[in-house]
Amino acid sequence: MQVLQPIKEIFPPEEYPDLLVGLDTPDDAAVWDLDGDQALVVTTDFFTPVVDDPYQYGQIAAANALSDLYAMGARPILALNIAAMPADLPTEVITAIIRGGAEKVREAGAVIAGGHTIQDKEPKYGLVAVGLVNKEKIMTKSCARPGDLLILTKPIGTGVTTTALRSGVALEQDVTEVVKWMSYLNRDAAMLAAEFGVESATDITGFGLLGHASEIADASDVRLSINLASVPFLQNAYEYAQDGNFPGGSVNNQTYYGSGVAFESGVDQIAQMLLFDAQTSGGLLISLPSSKWEDFSIRASVMGLPAWAIGTVEDGAGIVVRAQILEDVFIQGSNGFNVRFINSD
Ligand code: CO
Ligand code: CO
Repeated sequence: MQVLQPIKEIFPPEEYPDLLVGLDTPDDAAVWDLDGDQALVVTTDFFTPVVDDPYQYGQIAAANALSDLYAMGARPILALNIAAMPADLPTEVITAIIRGGAEKVREAGAVIAGGHTIQDKEPKYGLVAVGLVNKEKIMTKSCARPGDLLILTKPIGTGVTTTALRSGVALEQDVTEVVKWMSYLNRDAAMLAAEFGVESATDITGFGLLGHASEIADASDVRLSINLASVPFLQNAYEYAQDGNFPGGSVNNQTYYGSGVAFESGVDQIAQMLLFDAQTSGGLLISLPSSKWEDFSIRASVMGLPAWAIGTVEDGAGIVVRAQILEDVFIQGSNGFNVRFINSD
């Protein structure tokens, strides 16, 4: 981010050897070396309401803030609330937001230890989240290797679906579904990644699948090849996209990351935009040595964790989005989840 440039000059990395991951790398959270084999992982995230229900909003905001810890392989230990609430917002609404966040933090095995609330015109809620990671197990964006498979653990389309919700055109079942996915912790995905010794991962949020994939491609100096036909989407994401329900962030993502992405013919405009759709509390994108996929997918289905192999890591740079299913391995996925695939011809 350009806005961080002046800060970088104030804190030259060589003066802070304990800061293992900081402003220099585009990673999900800051990592601070502790004595012994542990490192402290710290992140923060907050946003305006994405759904109407205050409790669900709290759950989603907390799951989203914790997600950056999981993306680095860390286990959340404690969190602080960050809240801005309008003076005229009923107390029970505020309580529901805070309770939603707290119950999500508890589900993650962490504790809320404090926080700060101010008055503001529009509600904002999120967390400062702190976790611990074994230094050997830190996942970053810079260790994806040619031959790895790309694993995605939540479907794409939360941006268009919540935009449709705000416009009052989303179907009720789609709202239920998108809330379920956005509230779903990336805990099990991170646990399984650690179990399989994964070195590179990130979570899919505001920059969309292709934006976050671009960061991995850049940081790891590789090319990511994504198969459209293997990417899971929320049920009516394509239709909402067709009707133009894109959040502003999705358009920005295409502008910003578009030049690094090559689309094969057969990947239509709607699909292209969906792959740039700004996600809220999306899944992990994991770079997994391909020899481990079979065991990984078996463990995932035992745990009830959704996981789809959506592409591969190759030599080169940038992103290529392919329209065809190349190999059988790509159609393996976890069954029983309500997702849809866009079939190209
Ligand atoms: Co992130
Ligand atoms: Co974040």
